[in-house]
Amino acid sequence: MAEFLRGKTVAVTGAGRGIGRAVALACAAEGAAVVVNDYGVGIDGSAPASEVADEVVKEIEAAGGRAVAVADDIATMAGGERVVRTAVEAFGRLDGVVCVAGILRERMLFNMSEQEWDPVIATHLKGTFTVFRAAAALMRQQGGGSLIGFTSGNHQGSVSQANYSAAKGGIISLVRSAALGLNKYGVTANCVAPVARTRMSANVPMELKEIGEPEDVAALVVYLLSDAAKEITGQVYTVAGPKIAVWAQPRELRAMYAASGSWTPERIADFLPGTVGVDPMPMLQQLEVMAKAAAAKERPNA
Ligand SMILES: NC(=O)c1ccc[n+]([C@@H]2O[C@H](COP(=O)([O-])OP(=O)(O)OC[C@H]3O[C@@H](n4cnc5c(N)ncnc54)[C@H](O)[C@@H]3O)[C@@H](O)[C@H]2O)c1
Repeated sequence: MAEFLRGKTVAVTGAGRGIGRAVALACAAEGAAVVVNDYGVGIDGSAPASEVADEVVKEIEAAGGRAVAVADDIATMAGGERVVRTAVEAFGRLDGVVCVAGILRERMLFNMSEQEWDPVIATHLKGTFTVFRAAAALMRQQGGGSLIGFTSGNHQGSVSQANYSAAKGGIISLVRSAALGLNKYGVTANCVAPVARTRMSANVPMELKEIGEPEDVAALVVYLLSDAAKEITGQVYTVAGPKIAVWAQPRELRAMYAASGSWTPERIADFLPGTVGVDPMPMLQQLEVMAKAAAAKERPNA
């Protein structure tokens, strides 16, 4: 057994399946004690089952590692708090949290219901907040720790998953806020945008050219949780099989200033197109390709 995370305790949400499970197994294999959280729901968030988290705990124990299950819903404050409290009660400390739990309720924006919007935002964005909130309070006292959120390339926008895209964009801003607010306490916060074969990626409505396995994602997460990455904070990394890429920080591209100190709509119309202009949206250029792939029912696992 390798020891990249020796002596650390890590909590992973959504750790019963897919990427979360691979992260939990990898953390345990690298010497961490692991809190395995999973509400055990269907891909749309329905029908919870506690066995899903228990199974991963059994797998970790069978391999000689230490783990404890929490089957709570992390979209609730109580669930997030329980994940953190369980780490302290079972293992005496918490060094890292990895918020992987997620669901999908796909629908075009003009047809999307409140029942499709709210649970997706609650699971991804609030579900990252509840765990970060409880962990940040503890890590501030401890004087260190790592917070890892899960976003998606879809944070750039999505044709049929506006709820998911909005939640994933929100997670990036939450992570950046955590990086800023906790920097002086030695706590880092970073985001991972994975592309890996799971039940969820099998439902992505577009062709995924670059894709890997959950274990590829787990390797990056273990690195970000380790002391080797303690200077890295406020970053968003894509991992897709052999590829790891860093995303740019958002920044203003070009500016224009009103000579008189204020603009009118007419003056903006005169100057904006030729000065600040636009920044072309990469996803917009891909709409046709994505529509063709969706029509052909091309799926990464198909
Ligand atoms: N697979 C990909 O290619 C891909 C791409 C981009 C982003 N992601 C993100 O990576 C993460 C993991 O995705 P995956 O593909 O492994 O999905 P998955 O469906 O295989 O696993 C998600 C797990 O989260 C659990 N979960 C859902 N709601 C929960 C809740 N309220 N509380 C606790 N657990 C809950 C589910 O029971 C499930 O076991 C998600 O956040 C997803 O949005 C995945």
